[in-house]
Order: sequence, then C-alpha cells, then structure tokens
Amino acid sequence: MAQLEPLSFECTSHSEEQTQRLGARLGALLTGHAVIALQGPLGAGKTCFARGVGQGWGAQQVLRSPTFTIVQQHRREVDDAVLYHIDLYRINSEEELLTIGLAELLDDERSVSIVEWPERASHLIGSEAIRVRFIPISETKRQLTFSTQDTRTWQILLALRKGAFGV
Ligand SMILES: Nc1ncnc2c1ncn2[C@@H]1O[C@H](COP(=O)(O)OP(=O)(O)O)[C@@H](O)[C@H]1O
Ligand SMILES: [Mg+2]
Repeated sequence: MAQLEPLSFECTSHSEEQTQRLGARLGALLTGHAVIALQGPLGAGKTCFARGVGQGWGAQQVLRSPTFTIVQQHRREVDDAVLYHIDLYRINSEEELLTIGLAELLDDERSVSIVEWPERASHLIGSEAIRVRFIPISETKRQLTFSTQDTRTWQILLALRKGAFGV
C-alpha cells in the first residue's frame, strides 16, 4: 500500500471477499450524502465492492448488478435513507443520462450513489466524489486506488485506510 498523491492511496485485494469487506468498511463510514464512482474494466470487482458498500451502509437487500435495470434503488430501515446503485455500462448518450435523471439522483441529499462506469458521465461526478479505480493484476488480485478531490471526503478515506490497514 502506498500513498501516491496527497488525496489518494492504493492497496491490493487478493480475493472477492477482501474486496467486498473493503466496500463494507467504506459503507459503514458513510454518514450522509455521498457519491462513489467505481472505475475499471468488466470483471474488475466493481459490483463486488458495491455489494460490500450496501452491506456496510445497511441496505435491506443484497446489491446485485444493475447492468440491465441501470438504476437499482435500495433503502435502509434505520432512517429510510436511499442508496442508488447505478451501472452506466449501457449508456451511450447525454439523452439517456437525462432519461434516467442521473444528475438528480447524484444530487439527492438523502442518498448515497454508487456509480459503475462513471466515465460515461464524468461531467456529473463532482469533486466530493469518492473514486475507486480497479486494476486487475491476476485472476484473483486487484489493485484498488481510492481518491478524491475534496478534503472533507478525504477524511472518510483516511478512516477507511486506518480501519483496514492500521495506517
Ligand atoms: N480480488 C477480487 N476482487 C473482486 N472480484 C474478484 C477478485 N478476484 C476475483 N474476482 C472475481 O471477479 C469478478 C468480479 O465481478 P464484478 O464484481 O461483477 O465485476 P465488475 O462489476 O467490475 O464487472 C467476480 O467473478 C469475482 O469472483
Ligand atoms: Mg458490475
């Protein structure tokens, strides 16, 4: 694990379970509105990580890939807050982004949004977003880079790093 730039760190996941656990740790740290952008090729582990986030955040149902529905809405019992799990893989135009109302979903102050394929809507992903980049290293190994452009969001990532790696 190394710190690359001021507001990013990277680590290696050696298994699907480890990736999901990291997601769960992040989900448990989210106290309010958040946007989490998960970038990486097919099979990199984005949905696996998202499943963990949902679990840690307290979603009532297990997150499954929203590739076909594009947006899956989840709730948690404790405060009725909403989690949007969004997969933009099949989105090809600005018009389609408008149709799903992505800007409104991401702005919803009572929600957490997890976005797979955020590069399809990079102009809508704000500087406060938590970005996670997944690079497949081998069949079971993934390099994960966590970053943000926002100093308050960075506190969440620091807490994640501390909880997961002790530093
Ligand atoms: N370290 C790892 N982290 C996450 N997934 C892994 C890892 N090693 C192997 N895998 C496998 O990679 C696949 C990831 O799938 P998925 O999370 O749906 O990817 P994506 O959403 O990025 O397309 C799963 O089949 C999973 O079992
Ligand atoms: Mg996926």
